[in-house]
Amino acid sequence: MAQAQANIGVIGMAVMGSNLARNLASREGNTVAIYNRSADKTRTVVSEFPEAGFVASETIEEFAASLTKPRTAIIMVKAGAGTDAVINQLTTVFEPGDIIVDGGNALFTDTIRREKAVRETGINFVGAGISGGEEGALKGPSIMPGGSAEAWATLGPILKTIAAVAEDEPCVTHVGTDGAGHFVKMIHNGIEYADMQLIAEAYDLIRRGTGKSPAEIADIFTEWNKGELESYLIEITAEVLRQVDAKTGQPLVDVIVDQAGAKGTGAWTVQTALDLGIPVSGIAEAVFARSLSSKPAQRAAASSLPGPTSKWTVDDADAFVEDVRQALYASKIIAYSQGFDEIVAGAEQYDWDIKKGDIAKIWRGGCIIRAQFLNRITEAYDENPGLVALVTAPYFTDAVSQTQDAWRRVVVAAAQAGIPSPAFSSSLSYYDGLRADRLPAALVQGQRDFFGAHTYRRVDAEGTFHTLWSGDRSEIEATDTH
Ligand SMILES: NC(=O)c1ccc[n+]([C@@H]2O[C@H](COP(=O)([O-])OP(=O)(O)OC[C@H]3O[C@@H](n4cnc5c(N)ncnc54)[C@H](OP(=O)(O)O)[C@@H]3O)[C@@H](O)[C@H]2O)c1
Repeated sequence: MAQAQANIGVIGMAVMGSNLARNLASREGNTVAIYNRSADKTRTVVSEFPEAGFVASETIEEFAASLTKPRTAIIMVKAGAGTDAVINQLTTVFEPGDIIVDGGNALFTDTIRREKAVRETGINFVGAGISGGEEGALKGPSIMPGGSAEAWATLGPILKTIAAVAEDEPCVTHVGTDGAGHFVKMIHNGIEYADMQLIAEAYDLIRRGTGKSPAEIADIFTEWNKGELESYLIEITAEVLRQVDAKTGQPLVDVIVDQAGAKGTGAWTVQTALDLGIPVSGIAEAVFARSLSSKPAQRAAASSLPGPTSKWTVDDADAFVEDVRQALYASKIIAYSQGFDEIVAGAEQYDWDIKKGDIAKIWRGGCIIRAQFLNRITEAYDENPGLVALVTAPYFTDAVSQTQDAWRRVVVAAAQAGIPSPAFSSSLSYYDGLRADRLPAALVQGQRDFFGAHTYRRVDAEGTFHTLWSGDRSEIEATDTH
């Protein structure tokens, strides 16, 4: 049996697990135990990275014995059945007080289920969202752990050493109990979908509106990256647009098939939002835009459908580019506002005490949506923790009032030109819906009462009412049947 000498272990030696293990090993004070189902992978990692001083095991029993107590192991294996299999193995060799961390991309409801089952053994279970891809895992990811306060007391100091650092603060915080960490990671990914789609629409509008080349648009994005839009996604967009395909000499973006894939976390965000009744329209449009792009048969069949009959031209290219920049900023504010609405609703539903400002803080580094802009979100929630909609915080209200004219011009232009802008347009509609004095929902409720006796409330009286539509059309008091 191995002697207990490692303070942390990692299970799963594919790209994420091995990089995270190397990250852990590179930090002062850590000795890292490693284990993988197929032992050959463990051996390869040990021989490739001798400097890490890994304590390698070929059985789960040996792995458990190599860890000091409380034993702490981070699972980085294929999400789903793989994670369940490893948890089952670990619960047979770990003891009460030990800590199992699932660092994979689990659905938060699976994490809630697993936490409940593992807790019954006395072992702590922590679902931790880890963002930043393989480079993040190696150099410093943004980490969103859930689980108990007891587990956080042991795990927190270790995770702080390996997380990304933004403005001298580690990008990790105890998000909340059981599935809170994976829930917040899911929202992070949903916002990422919206952000990427908005950037793609901005590129498309500029390209088709001004005729600029991808390389010229790359320069525009590089410029934008110096201002309020400064973010990792804007930065990498410029890199992708500047890339020339070695084979054809064409811009790479022109030789990539225009069908975007998805791993499912965006869809989870939208499915969960539907259950919670939260309108995350920007995220939903981003998910649907990827689905539409990936329907070649439908797109081919529809390709001869008529577009606008009048020609659309941009007279002042610089002014148009600036309008698009402002529309992007305004729409981005809406996407984040909607994402945080979902966090608030999830926290309420699952009884998590999630500090919104802290979430914005840990997204400033290591993760895909890292951006300067997140500081403004932290400030908004620090100033008013009960903020009902991010977009109503003074800073964001001010930003939207300065950009909304441009935003409207861009959405009008897109419609006139026949250029799809689902995320730009839906964000603007959401904004106008939110600020409307009266919504046509009154008519919808009237329709519901007509065909289903679903009742309505009046603006001028307490109570619930129903009109006898198929009778004399008089109004009666009724029981609410929403
Ligand atoms: N790749 C990314 O950018 C990224 C970013 C964030 C989060 N994640 C998440 O991180 C986790 C790891 O990702 P990855 O890309 O490194 O690896 P992966 O391809 O998702 O999974 C491969 C690993 O899972 C193990 N595994 C699969 N089924 C197993 C089972 N039934 N029992 C035991 N082990 C099993 C494999 O062991 P064998 O070698 O024995 O087959 C291997 O170590 C995933 O949950 C993923 O969603 C990935």
